[in-house]
Amino acid sequence: MGVIENNVIEVSALSKSFHDGDLNVTVLNDVNLLLKARERIAIVGASGSGKSTLLQLLGGLDKPSQGEVVLCGNKLNNLADNVRGKLRNQHLGFIYQFHHLLPEFTALENVAMPLMVRNESVKKIQQQAKDILGRVGLKDRTQHKPSELSGGERQRVAIARALVTQPKVILADEPTGNLDSKTAAQVSDIMMELNNELDTAIVMVTHDMGLAETMDIVYELKDSVLTTS
Ligand SMILES: Nc1ncnc2c1ncn2[C@@H]1O[C@H](COP(=O)(O)OP(=O)(O)OP(=O)(O)O)[C@@H](O)[C@H]1O
Ligand SMILES: [Mg+2]
Repeated sequence: MGVIENNVIEVSALSKSFHDGDLNVTVLNDVNLLLKARERIAIVGASGSGKSTLLQLLGGLDKPSQGEVVLCGNKLNNLADNVRGKLRNQHLGFIYQFHHLLPEFTALENVAMPLMVRNESVKKIQQQAKDILGRVGLKDRTQHKPSELSGGERQRVAIARALVTQPKVILADEPTGNLDSKTAAQVSDIMMELNNELDTAIVMVTHDMGLAETMDIVYELKDSVLTTS
């Protein structure tokens, strides 16, 4: 049991092809990956090499053509959508290049959103959301809407939203790719600091080799194959 609990994500013989008319494009071919609790890995690779596709599969947001993803001991392939959704909410946090915040809601409401499906009081949920917003340095921005925040602030709200559920793992797709280099460094510092504090594992897709090399392992996707570089 201990061994299983220590493995957050297990990927075996994972392949993904897309069909476009008669054309069959293989994006991922026999990918194997093990992510342990608290481990931090980077995935690098050229544009179009399949990095986002792999993250979608890891998060159960897309189905593999072959192979399997096991999230915290649960095989994702065979699960009903609602069960998979529940596992995602319980164990995963997502951060994207563009913040994906809901424009009509405040920072606080956006961050509280993933907790709303849980059976907890609104008061407790708001407190948790406030706490995590404080930890990303946005104590004074809780009532702002995304359009009233800077790019770096929006990304920090997105980080807070991903971490508010205390997930086992963060799946981050170019989380600083849309920011200037100074803001990007600040945002990634906050993200890594919080990840350490909360003992969260992370799979980070990035073009930033400097950032990638601060991770425990750097993987490269090339010619549909995942290798350690
Ligand atoms: N739903 C889809 N249908 C068809 N082809 C797709 C689909 N999603 C992705 N692809 C193709 O799969 C390949 C990998 O795409 P993916 O988005 O994973 O690349 P990426 O490594 O994330 O690139 P980038 O660094 O530009 O974000 C691309 O050639 C893309 O066109
Ligand atoms: Mg991508």
